[in-house]
Amino acid sequence: MKSQQNLSLFERDVSPDEKKKGEATEQIKRLDLHGEMRERLLAHCRLKRGEVWEDPVKGHRVGVLDAADAKDVEKIFGGQETSLAVNDPPYNIAVGNANTLSLSKVDLQSYLEFSKNWVSNAIAAMAADAHFYVWLGADYRDNFQPLPDFMILMRQFDDLKPRNYITLRNQRGYGTQKNWMWVRQELLHYAKGNARFNVEAEYTDIPKILRGYYKEVGGRRTENIERSKSEYIRAGNVWVDVQQVFYRMEENVPGCYAQKPLKAIERIIQSGSDDGDIIADFFSHSGTTLIAGERLGRRVLTFDLDPVFAEITIRRLERFRKLKLTGWQWRSPFPEIDSREGDVRRSYFRVG
Ligand SMILES: C[S@@+](CC[C@H](N)C(=O)[O-])C[C@H]1O[C@@H](n2cnc3c(N)ncnc32)[C@H](O)[C@@H]1O
Repeated sequence: MKSQQNLSLFERDVSPDEKKKGEATEQIKRLDLHGEMRERLLAHCRLKRGEVWEDPVKGHRVGVLDAADAKDVEKIFGGQETSLAVNDPPYNIAVGNANTLSLSKVDLQSYLEFSKNWVSNAIAAMAADAHFYVWLGADYRDNFQPLPDFMILMRQFDDLKPRNYITLRNQRGYGTQKNWMWVRQELLHYAKGNARFNVEAEYTDIPKILRGYYKEVGGRRTENIERSKSEYIRAGNVWVDVQQVFYRMEENVPGCYAQKPLKAIERIIQSGSDDGDIIADFFSHSGTTLIAGERLGRRVLTFDLDPVFAEITIRRLERFRKLKLTGWQWRSPFPEIDSREGDVRRSYFRVG
């Protein structure tokens, strides 16, 4: 189901000229599969491994740090605590022949060791009452790892209590004609202490359409829609109203292969934090959590192991402030590089 908000984004900004010239295709390919391009972009990144950038306007921080390294994590938090950590680690699933810094498949034990380390670091940075979310996948070609193994690992952390197990349903998926199409993304929700939940954030823009659940009220037979607080359905733990990001959406960031939709991250932030709270994301990638926090008045501390993704994260914030755009659609976040030839781009590609 496409929401109204997403419908308006589909054909936005594509001039007939651009269509004719074939320009409406992503100008930087997936960086996990195009290592050469990633190497070229490194020269244009302002941060090196171990460094942290602090936003002079609102105090957000972006680093090139390792989520599994306690010292790195302390460096970005500097004694501050987060009331909501939303994390999207690599899923330990091989894509093509990629075996890169940020996306490599390792044996399950090593993956669980890595998970144990970064989760411990996240818990250490969480306030007494705080939410913890993690996106994860299950690879059916490899015994559904790592989702169930990660869930069992999480039982070791007494501070975190399970709150929910959310599935985001994609509209498009992958699979063959011989399998059910794979359209799900999993989101685990845990809480520490007595973390507050704002139920208002749970309402979608999907009207209730099912009638029924008749009940006698004051001698009259009433129907559920009449009695309910809202004419819209709640997202519940199966989210069907969030479009996965693709190249025609304004928020798309070319080069990023695992970008989460802003709408999903904003729902999480609005349901579990207040104005001015500190939000953390240990795997920044395209910087979705930073943009969501900026739009909702939260301060965000985020980082990525890869300087290219940290740079994209900072550029995305700068672009948002300058142009009020949440991404680049199919255009390049690195307009100074010609992704086809290697020389300086033609000037009409320069869009901010
Ligand atoms: C699935 S993506 C996150 C997507 C992000 N939620 C978004 O919306 O753009 C995972 C990211 O984690 C980064 N990463 C991998 N290992 C890491 C580590 N040890 N510490 C920090 N970041 C890491 C990768 O470079 C990649 O950008």
